[in-house]
Amino acid sequence: MQLQIPPIVDDNRVTRSLPIPVRRQLEAWVDNVNTLLSVENPLVMGRMAPSAVRGLFLRTGRSGRTTSLKSSHRARMDFQYPSDHPEMRRLYEKAKRLQWNGATDLPWETDVDPMNPEVPLLAEDFFDWDVMAAGGVATDEAGRLRLIHDTTSWMLSQFLHGEQGALMAAAQVTECVPFFDGKLYGATQVMDEARHVEVFLGYLDDKLEKRYEINDNLFTIIDSLMTDGRWDMKFLGMQILVEGLALGAFGTLYRQTSEPLLKELLRRVIHDEARHVRYGILALSDLYTNHLSDRERIEREDWAFEIVLLMRNRFLAHEIYDEHYAHLITRREWNKVINRSPGMQVFRKVMFERLVPNLRAIGLLTERVMPRYEKVGLGRYFGMPSTDKLSDDQLLGGEDAA
Ligand SMILES: [Fe+2]
Ligand SMILES: [Fe+2]
Repeated sequence: MQLQIPPIVDDNRVTRSLPIPVRRQLEAWVDNVNTLLSVENPLVMGRMAPSAVRGLFLRTGRSGRTTSLKSSHRARMDFQYPSDHPEMRRLYEKAKRLQWNGATDLPWETDVDPMNPEVPLLAEDFFDWDVMAAGGVATDEAGRLRLIHDTTSWMLSQFLHGEQGALMAAAQVTECVPFFDGKLYGATQVMDEARHVEVFLGYLDDKLEKRYEINDNLFTIIDSLMTDGRWDMKFLGMQILVEGLALGAFGTLYRQTSEPLLKELLRRVIHDEARHVRYGILALSDLYTNHLSDRERIEREDWAFEIVLLMRNRFLAHEIYDEHYAHLITRREWNKVINRSPGMQVFRKVMFERLVPNLRAIGLLTERVMPRYEKVGLGRYFGMPSTDKLSDDQLLGGEDAA
């Protein structure tokens, strides 16, 4: 069944005439309500609504307080200690071999100057400066350097917050995964994610000296998967969706940046993340292909699609907009200039190039949902290789991966 609720119209002429704080609030509110109304499956909408209220409307992630999320998953113990998943066991052995120390294995002595155009954090053509200037953003050299610094800080901040979510989710997954070999592997992922939090935090605080709060949409997604009691939804949300996108985003930034410390940091994190996505594919492909009822499958297909849409449409650096540009242009005008920046387009392309094939690999890209992906322009990624079929070079974003 499809809900037929029209979106709320956000009229640019009306919003422009409002005082800035009121306009910012109204634009964000309209945007959020429209996002919720666009969810087609009522079951999925009902399940996502509490997380959306906490994330989008109460903005819990930005409250400045410690946030507790209640989960009702069951922790499984097994005193038979079975060898029940040889591939996960192999992944566990590999993960043990490839552990590294975030404090000593990275060149932290590197002098990073975000304002040095000789060692740019982002590639020269990340933004189309003519489009930005025409839109009223970064109209001079100082503004351009600041935007590059802010954009890198904003991205790495979202990576950091995602890594904290991954740390918590990996611990939950370790408790509830039904394979004993999966629990051993899961423990290595908990350690990996702790290291990722450590290195992104270190880079942001010590080198960029600027950190942004968590994006409300990212918080909503993390909230949704962490509070869901079903073990497979945690895998689907974190290991397949969030980590799949992160893998694409890390690979793109790895290629974009010329800053050597950041490059090495990302290279190491990418290798870890590839194992995490592989773990998700191993855990879910048989379950989703052979053991779900129609109702269960449809719910997961639709939930995955809604999360993909959230990530596709709503990571537009509104935190930077709020900080510097809300008094100059409307949120809709900002969305337009950001969407047109070549760097953001590459990010989007590589992220979905990683994610969509993984949905196919676990059996969630069915004929029922393919037209919906096609409609939002993601159909071109259907035939691409899933993460478990990619070489290390391809995962780092080598030309052959494009
Ligand atoms: Fe991670
Ligand atoms: Fe991860």
